[in-house]
Amino acid sequence: MSIRFRLLLSFTSVVVVSVILFVLAAYLLSIAVTGDVRSFNSFYNIHYSLNPLSEEEENLFLDLKYIAKNDPGQLKDQTLLQEFDTRLKMVQAGLIVREDNSVIYSAASLNGLDLSTILPAYEMGNNSIRNTMNKGTRFFSYAKFDFYFSPETGERGSIYVFHERSPFAQVVRQMLPLLIGLFAAILLLTGWLLYRYVTRKIIQPLDRLRQSAELIKDGDLTFQLQSSSRDEVGQLVQTFDQMRQKLYDSIQLQLRYEDNRKQLLSNISHDLRTPITTIKGYAEGIRDGVTNTPEKLDRYVAAIHTRASDMERLVQELLYYSKLDLNKEPYSFIRLELSPFLHRIADELAIEFENNAVEVTWEEELGGPLFVLADAEKLKRVVMNLLDNSLKYMNQPPKRLNITIQRTDKQAVVIVADNGPGLEESSLSQIFERFYREEPSRSQAIVSGSGLGLAIAKQIIEGHGGSIWAESKPGSGLSVYFTLKLYEDRR
Ligand SMILES: Nc1ncnc2c1ncn2[C@@H]1O[C@H](COP(=O)(O)OP(=O)(O)OP(=O)(O)O)[C@@H](O)[C@H]1O
Ligand SMILES: [Mg+2]
Repeated sequence: MSIRFRLLLSFTSVVVVSVILFVLAAYLLSIAVTGDVRSFNSFYNIHYSLNPLSEEEENLFLDLKYIAKNDPGQLKDQTLLQEFDTRLKMVQAGLIVREDNSVIYSAASLNGLDLSTILPAYEMGNNSIRNTMNKGTRFFSYAKFDFYFSPETGERGSIYVFHERSPFAQVVRQMLPLLIGLFAAILLLTGWLLYRYVTRKIIQPLDRLRQSAELIKDGDLTFQLQSSSRDEVGQLVQTFDQMRQKLYDSIQLQLRYEDNRKQLLSNISHDLRTPITTIKGYAEGIRDGVTNTPEKLDRYVAAIHTRASDMERLVQELLYYSKLDLNKEPYSFIRLELSPFLHRIADELAIEFENNAVEVTWEEELGGPLFVLADAEKLKRVVMNLLDNSLKYMNQPPKRLNITIQRTDKQAVVIVADNGPGLEESSLSQIFERFYREEPSRSQAIVSGSGLGLAIAKQIIEGHGGSIWAESKPGSGLSVYFTLKLYEDRR
């Protein structure tokens, strides 16, 4: 049985039970009040029959009854009747006196309304003296007394003290079945609206969740589930969507890894195949006796040695990179004063700078020693790779290299800027990917390299919790920026 059906069932039963209980309660109440099992139909009549008049009206009625019993002749005295009527009028009541079949006094408050036709027949036993009557839309409760004006002639008379009731009571009396029907309809409508509300708030989101789960089962994770409500179901929908997003992200990541792996393999095989082919060619040359002079042999052997060394370097770099990638290369962070550290590295390359006619300048405005938290050996590798690149790619004099050290709130920034060929905007983010080499450097055999230098630098800097990026305008050189966390003295 679906939840939707269960809900419908429970709402319907609530409505039905309420209607039954309501009718039963009304029935029992009428019995309790009137003591009459059949009283339900004439509940209002009975109510007013029991208490038609207020206490004051009742007193006036009793006075009139007393006169009717002891000196009925007086009840033909219009002045006396008028006096009683006036007093009754003050409490919204009125008096009617009947003699045989004609009304001899009719209350002023009736404004000429003739009630003679609806007055009940004589009942000299006066067993039922309180009741209700209505003429058109007007509704009255009354107390009456039948008596003889003169027992000898048998001339009969009645006094009626009546009180006009609100037409509402009459309306209610007439419309009771309709009202009960209306209540039941309101109950039904409320039940229906509640059912709709609950369905919209619970069943529909659950339906959407089920459909989404099916989509996920079929491998579709691109949809989005949204819920504006903050209730439990809304939270469930939101959590479900977060789960979908996580799953989607992790699958995307997996695909990227897979892609990377494929590219890595193809790059490695390409970069290894080239030197191997060359080595093979030189070796074949030697075997086939092409190297007929000792000088030629020396050249061939030297070439083989260079290519083999290139390969060795490539394999070593690759090994190092994958160790960093797998977090297998532990970092040993120490407190390092940045400026002298960088100067020492540049000094190591002084001869190369000189040979290549590179002018090195420094910009440091530190206002005191600047300490960073770094792994000296790895950081040296980063700087070496950057300087090596500048040396490699600057191709026209004057060759200038500028190293800037800056201090910000929480970090140190190092900028290595050269005035070489620079790079297109679109290449700037790619140069940090492994094996990425700009086309000219890839094709020109003169500039050797594996495309791992900046990828390794990026791994190391990120391992330090810093970031690395490049800025350039073609023709005006390349600037590589990297940041390092400052060493915070905790003493
Ligand atoms: N200073 C620079 N000026 C111009 N281009 C550069 C500069 N530094 C790097 N590049 C470009 O970025 C590419 C990637 O550099 P990266 O250092 O990662 O590899 P590589 O120098 O080619 O090889 P490796 O450093 O592994 O020997 C280079 O091939 C080159 O095209
Ligand atoms: Mg390099």
